[in-house]
Amino acid sequence: YNKIGIIGAMAEEIDLLHKHVQTSVSFEKAGITYVEGTLHGRPVIFCKSGVGKVNAAVCTQLMIDAGVDCVLFTGVAGAVDPSLNIGDIVVSTTCLQHDMDCTPLGFARGQVPYQDVWEYEADSRLIELALDACDRLFPGRSVRGKVLSGDQFVASREAVRLLHEELNGACTEMEGAALAQVCAMNDTPFVVIRAMSDKADGSAHVNFSEFTVEAAVNSHRIIDDMIQRM
Ligand code: ADE
Repeated sequence: YNKIGIIGAMAEEIDLLHKHVQTSVSFEKAGITYVEGTLHGRPVIFCKSGVGKVNAAVCTQLMIDAGVDCVLFTGVAGAVDPSLNIGDIVVSTTCLQHDMDCTPLGFARGQVPYQDVWEYEADSRLIELALDACDRLFPGRSVRGKVLSGDQFVASREAVRLLHEELNGACTEMEGAALAQVCAMNDTPFVVIRAMSDKADGSAHVNFSEFTVEAAVNSHRIIDDMIQRM
């Protein structure tokens, strides 16, 4: 990968990238600021996506238009697999939009109508790089799994049970599958890396904003490790 795209969901992670990337230029498009530079000598572009699938889709397409060869996405998510704990990390195998629902027309749950593929596969090399970084930095705290995305903050036991039983998701968030679909449309490799901030069941396990700061530091370390080995 020549030029590496990094999309962060958290302002704190973008701040860390600002500190560590040797910046050459930045540009603004569709209200998003893209910063180009080098990290460990590798050309990178980073930006903050904003929340939700539309923001993620626009952000990803503009990043691809800026010439990146792969896209890394980091943020937090609600755990869907009951064996996951707060702070564990999910590295995407595939991403699916759980709120895409044309089942009354006979399509599968999550299927984008008339498309043969609606569960988008992350790049195997990026998955291994991410898992290797997690093994070194946070041993025993990472898994590979299916990332479910929808324009909703999931906060009920019933909703989370259905996401696990019907769609076999590992975690749920609000951007990954949109980014994944745009990457698939452009033949661009991607991986989504998510730290579990809650169990998507409405219970307050952690102080969300405090956890976000910690998660941003951890995901910065993962990205940093990956780029050194790419
Ligand atoms: N991001 C973090 N937790 C989430 C949840 N429970 N639902 C959707 N997005 C999230």
